[in-house]
Amino acid sequence: MEMQNEIKHIAFIMDGNGRWAKKRMMPREYGHTFGAKKFKEVASHCYELGIPNVTFYAFSTENWKRPAQEVNAIMKLFMNYLDDAKKSLDKDVGIVFLGSKAPFSAEMREKMEFLEDETRTRPKKLCIAINYGGRAEIVDAVNKLIAEGKTEFTEDDITNNIYSGVCPPPDMIVRTGGEMRLSNFLMWQSVYAELFFTDTLWPDLTDKEIDGMIEQFNNRKRRFGGV
Ligand code: IPE
Ligand code: IPE
Ligand code: MG
Repeated sequence: MEMQNEIKHIAFIMDGNGRWAKKRMMPREYGHTFGAKKFKEVASHCYELGIPNVTFYAFSTENWKRPAQEVNAIMKLFMNYLDDAKKSLDKDVGIVFLGSKAPFSAEMREKMEFLEDETRTRPKKLCIAINYGGRAEIVDAVNKLIAEGKTEFTEDDITNNIYSGVCPPPDMIVRTGGEMRLSNFLMWQSVYAELFFTDTLWPDLTDKEIDGMIEQFNNRKRRFGGV
């Protein structure tokens, strides 16, 4: 597949795992297990297409409201991924976690920091938004600047101090699961992102459907306020 508009960054809101499981009369956790598999497949496909930065919304600051059983199951899948990534991550991909690590266990925080430190200088990025909120990200950036003694901020100050500062803003944001909203994802960075919504539930997303969205992306006129 050819890329006309260069895509430097694609972001996914991985929604619909719970409904996917329900359709199979299985508990929601079952959907998350398949969702986690799909996440690895989609990331590989995007790097194969030559997109250097890929972001996934895995867990929002609001998702802590879910039943403890579901939250625990997601954290367990996340722990498994952290162990797996150490071995199976592409050699040129660096991991960045978007979100405050404060609520996670010490063991989990250590694993996250280890992966980030080990892979920091790699040219491609895999950003995983976990305990992520777009508003919290902006507030944290402002507080960081204040702590550094700043009293007045520019847009660049915010852009350079948000968690995702390592990546350019996303060219495409894809949400599966049929809802047409951003649910507190990339509030600052999304202003000129091209948005794609599909009813497909996250575990059912195919490479072919992603290719189709990229084809649509290539036909969109991005004006950025110009003519
Ligand atoms: C996955 O989809 C997103 C996460 C918060 C992990 P959901 O768990 O929201 O699935 P639905 O929307 O209930 O189907
Ligand atoms: C958005 O999905 C968050 C993630 C995909 C991690 P939600 O299922 O939490 O969003 P809402 O509640 O439908 O807005
Ligand atoms: Mg959902």
